[in-house]
Amino acid sequence: MLGSPCFPWLLVMTFLVPRAQFLAPQDSEEEGEDQPSLPPSRAVYCDYDRCRHLQVPCQELQKAGPVPCLCPGLSSPDQQPEPPRLGEVHVVAEEGRALVHWCAPSSPVRQYWLLLWEGSGDPRRGPSLNATVRRAELEGLKPGATYTVCVVASNEAGESLIPREGGEESEQVAVPAFGPCGRITVPPRPATLVHVALGVGTALALLSCFALVWHFCLRDRWGCPRRGATARASGAL
Ligand SMILES: *[C@@H]1O[C@H](CO)[C@@H](O)[C@H](O)[C@H]1NC(C)=O
Repeated sequence: MLGSPCFPWLLVMTFLVPRAQFLAPQDSEEEGEDQPSLPPSRAVYCDYDRCRHLQVPCQELQKAGPVPCLCPGLSSPDQQPEPPRLGEVHVVAEEGRALVHWCAPSSPVRQYWLLLWEGSGDPRRGPSLNATVRRAELEGLKPGATYTVCVVASNEAGESLIPREGGEESEQVAVPAFGPCGRITVPPRPATLVHVALGVGTALALLSCFALVWHFCLRDRWGCPRRGATARASGAL
């Protein structure tokens, strides 16, 4: 009675459990064998960071090093580069400057440059920067203005694309996360804020004065209907 339902289960146990026990030590044994032999047999990655400023191209690191190292894969040099990725943008509002960082695309790059424009104005092209450069400074930014900045990479085959909102024809530049473009909003100067506050304060004060003047002087003269009626009524009494 007990034997027949238990039989398949026992069969499974006898086949699986010893195997499982067997596999565990075998695995660790294999790892133990592998680890000492890893460093000589496996190449290491080059000390290459695509976001590091003044980063020597990985292919040059590969040539220069005593042992060959591995580089991240690149697109074909016969193709225009992929767009770089715009990173952190640090705005110094008081000086009208912004420091822009970016990361290299997985493509061979000869040079970079920045495009900058305000609102819907024409893009201004910054100076050409060599392939090691990952940051650049923008100057002459106006307080309170909003700009679009894009980083462009180029090589012998062409230049990287700027994403457009709603297709290639569109004038509007899209600013997806991890794309080559971003928007910079320069905060207004603190002095400007003080002026704005003074302006609003003055306007409110004038409005209050006008309300008081109207209340005490002009309302009777211009004839507020209700007040006129009560005045006449009280005069009649
Ligand atoms: C690339 O430009 C940077 C910054 O202008 C400069 O320091 C560096 O020497 C240049 N590198 C090459 C290889 O021209």
